[in-house]
Amino acid sequence: MNRALAIEFSRITEAAALAAYAWLGRGDKNAADDAAVQAMRYMLNRINMDGEIVIGEGEIDQAPMLYIGEKVGSGMGELVSIAVDPIDGTRMTAMGQPNALSVLAAGGKNTFLKAPDMYMEKLVVGPEAKGMIDLNLPIEQNLRRVASKLGKLMSQLSVMVLAKPRHDEIIRNMQAMGIRVLAIPDGDVAGSVLCCLPEGEVDMLYGIGGAPEGVVAAAAIRALGGDMQARLIPRHQVKGDTAENREIAAREIQRCQQAGVEINRVLTLEELVRDDNLVFSATGITPGDLVQGIKRKENLATTETLLIRGRSRTIRRILSTHYLDRKDTEIYNLIRS
Ligand code: FBP
Repeated sequence: MNRALAIEFSRITEAAALAAYAWLGRGDKNAADDAAVQAMRYMLNRINMDGEIVIGEGEIDQAPMLYIGEKVGSGMGELVSIAVDPIDGTRMTAMGQPNALSVLAAGGKNTFLKAPDMYMEKLVVGPEAKGMIDLNLPIEQNLRRVASKLGKLMSQLSVMVLAKPRHDEIIRNMQAMGIRVLAIPDGDVAGSVLCCLPEGEVDMLYGIGGAPEGVVAAAAIRALGGDMQARLIPRHQVKGDTAENREIAAREIQRCQQAGVEINRVLTLEELVRDDNLVFSATGITPGDLVQGIKRKENLATTETLLIRGRSRTIRRILSTHYLDRKDTEIYNLIRS
């Protein structure tokens, strides 16, 4: 991925975050998501590349835009695979709560695992604990191995977990082991990246979240030298064994077969993201631990974007000021459309 192209991707998550921000606190997560998707697609199509969405808003029959397999870009130039999550934290955006961001990862052809939109069990650690995790072992054993590698007591370990009822028991068990649990309502992409940043204070992320988010996060984890293992899990095993969930699970299993990905098998980081020649970009929508949220005053808006290049492992934090009333700019058109 050439450097100039890499920088272009920061403009895409910036635009999506600004478009989503227009829906901040309005209680309509679909409208926020639509705005971010439209902005992302518009900006992607302005880049000189032969791009394809490999992780997107769903299959062509479910998503009118940024569907898996959609071609983006001018059609000329580098072949680029793109994994997008226009908003990680749609509910947080709609409710005006922290930790929502717009995110994407881009790499060469076949860089990303073609995971369908389903659940994924994820275990993430930073570079210092690389090689110490194994999802085939009980989580308690993983925690002990990581603590010993980091030279920490259990009471010095911080683990981030999505605060969902399915995790209640594991959270209680970790706390009983003396671990500090950081239970976040949503947004495991940011949580995963936080484990791998040099200044990060999170030692591990564990739990079941979305598979698309898992692959997008894996790009940053790979770029930063961290480690991750994951397992795709059919819906009825996560949300309850009902007829409806079994029906959805059957479709998920079919999609996995079509994409050649295995369910319920442990996937390594190298299987999730096959090459580190990639770029990861995340722009804050609401204030977060990873990036700050958008600050807006009349027609001025500032954004913070974390842009990571895998090859060089460069971490850039880009603070941008946008004049939203400047006509003939992409942002002007997007925010008003
Ligand atoms: P969305 O904003 O796309 O809904 O994702 C938020 C999120 O919390 C992700 O970070 C996480 O991976 C997933 O939802 C968990 O799914 P669920 O809310 O169904 O438990």
